[in-house]
Amino acid sequence: MPSTTARRLPKTPSPDAGPDVRRVRQRLLKWYDAHHRRLPWRAEPGVAPKPYRVLVSEAMLQQTQVATVVPYFGRFMDALPTVRDLAGADEQAVLRLWQGLGYYRRARSLHAAAKVIVCDHGGVIPDNVADLLKLPGVGRYSAGAIASIAYGTRAPILDGNVARVLARLTLIEQPIDAPDTRKTLWRLAEELVPASRPGDFNQALMELGALICTKANPTCDACPLSGQCQARVVDRVASVPVPAKRKAPTLVHHHVIVMERAGRFLFEQRPATGLWANMWQLPTAEDLPAKANTSELSAWAADRSGLVLSDTQHVVAFTHQTTHRTIRFNVWHGLVTSGRLRRGAGRWRRLDQLNDLPLANPQRKAVAVLIKEDPQQHG
Ligand code: ADE
Repeated sequence: MPSTTARRLPKTPSPDAGPDVRRVRQRLLKWYDAHHRRLPWRAEPGVAPKPYRVLVSEAMLQQTQVATVVPYFGRFMDALPTVRDLAGADEQAVLRLWQGLGYYRRARSLHAAAKVIVCDHGGVIPDNVADLLKLPGVGRYSAGAIASIAYGTRAPILDGNVARVLARLTLIEQPIDAPDTRKTLWRLAEELVPASRPGDFNQALMELGALICTKANPTCDACPLSGQCQARVVDRVASVPVPAKRKAPTLVHHHVIVMERAGRFLFEQRPATGLWANMWQLPTAEDLPAKANTSELSAWAADRSGLVLSDTQHVVAFTHQTTHRTIRFNVWHGLVTSGRLRRGAGRWRRLDQLNDLPLANPQRKAVAVLIKEDPQQHG
């Protein structure tokens, strides 16, 4: 006999329905409260976050793992504890504090942003996405992260970790970087972020991506959202997200020509724009053929510096990967026998006196090899 009371429909969502927003928020925040890492830029519960610490940490955390950032963050804060200290610092000092973190454009942008904050905002970091977006180096992700974490402004974020979590949660099987996918993911992030505790919620999404919903070995059994995860329902967690179609990196060859005179070495400053802008390096030829011979290398060095090399020999080769380029470094060493250093061609340094020159990682690697090869002379 049919019942006269309304029958309750089963609670299975249709495939097109979005996630249960309230439940996702609740579960994620509860998990975050119990499991989040204590990190130096995160305020303790009940303590107001410090916007400058959030600004600096977000710049450092772009494309870089938390564990790598922690010591850099501490040194940076010790050296430049306020946004005014950063705005007033010398660019080379900022680059030195960043040395080894890579993606040095972030450091230059952060430095420029600090100047704008001091000049245009009275030293107060903006609390809203629109003003944050006007700062150098601040894109939609960073603006959302700073506004939500530092000020509790309701703003979404989307980085690689968050995109992976959301793509699995809602079973998005289009390439993760496709413009339409990005739009869908931003919309989803916007819908999910709550008005209350948006900063914790955003950090919880990132934290889940970093600790549980990882790329290679997600631990779904420990995931607070496993009951909501559409990819899990159809057993496709391993194949989502679908990777972006990337162009293969271009292979280029750089020849580092170590020029030594009386135990000191020539270092030159890179141009003000482009890769590793304004940083220092051992003289490096970027337009010689892969198989350049020692006379071509010595001719290049003489042309560049005005100095004549003899006994030029190969020391080591290694590869450095950037987003768009595979750079094959060949390091050569020669002794300066004559000539006069051209004005502005560089500075002489012992290899144990490089603290004032910011060097990018491949250059530091070349220096480390030289020190290892001849510790007494160079160490
Ligand atoms: N990656 C980017 N921002 C982060 C944050 N605030 N905490 C942890 N990882 C992050």
